[in-house]
Amino acid sequence: MIPEADRIMISQDEIAAKVQELGSRISQDYGGEEILVVGILKGAAIFMSDLVRSIASPVAFDFMAVSSYGASTESSGIVRIIKDLDQSIEGRHVLIVEDVVDTGLTLNYLVENLRSRNPASLKLCSLLDKPSRRKVEVKADYTGFEIPDEFVVGYGLDYSERFRNLPYIAVLKKDVYIK
Ligand code: IMP
Ligand code: MG
Repeated sequence: MIPEADRIMISQDEIAAKVQELGSRISQDYGGEEILVVGILKGAAIFMSDLVRSIASPVAFDFMAVSSYGASTESSGIVRIIKDLDQSIEGRHVLIVEDVVDTGLTLNYLVENLRSRNPASLKLCSLLDKPSRRKVEVKADYTGFEIPDEFVVGYGLDYSERFRNLPYIAVLKKDVYIK
């Protein structure tokens, strides 16, 4: 474990088992229908790369990048599209893949935005969910782990662009971000 971490919340093995489980459920639900998997950069990149390899249905990729916390751990509530999709999603089965639903502000905005583009269906898969932090209602169709209100890093999640490469999810020591 890295010295900046307080403890490991979710181990590499637990993540791998959950990704398989989510992939099986998604494959069953979509069957032979092609899924356009939309990863929300950068946090969802690692989760998405593992998840798509556990999905048996045909898959196409796209990515979006939206503004989030910057270097802070609190959401500003302002969502800005930094990178939009490369393709039209009209008539496609879209599955948004996100790292964590926290206040819900980011996903609430994204779901509204993508729904207005007339996909055939729109679902949401989030690795983590912090329901106690919700400011607007967002319900993922597929959730990996419900976690308490603690700031976590690893497996794609960062603090100031660091720790995304950890193979596990860890709680950061408070003195790393509270100065
Ligand atoms: P929301 O708009 O508040 O739901 O925030 C979603 C975004 O906040 C995520 O995509 C993450 O980038 C970031 N975020 C929320 N909680 C955490 C955390 O515990 N660790 C790292 N990033 C987080
Ligand atoms: Mg982030």
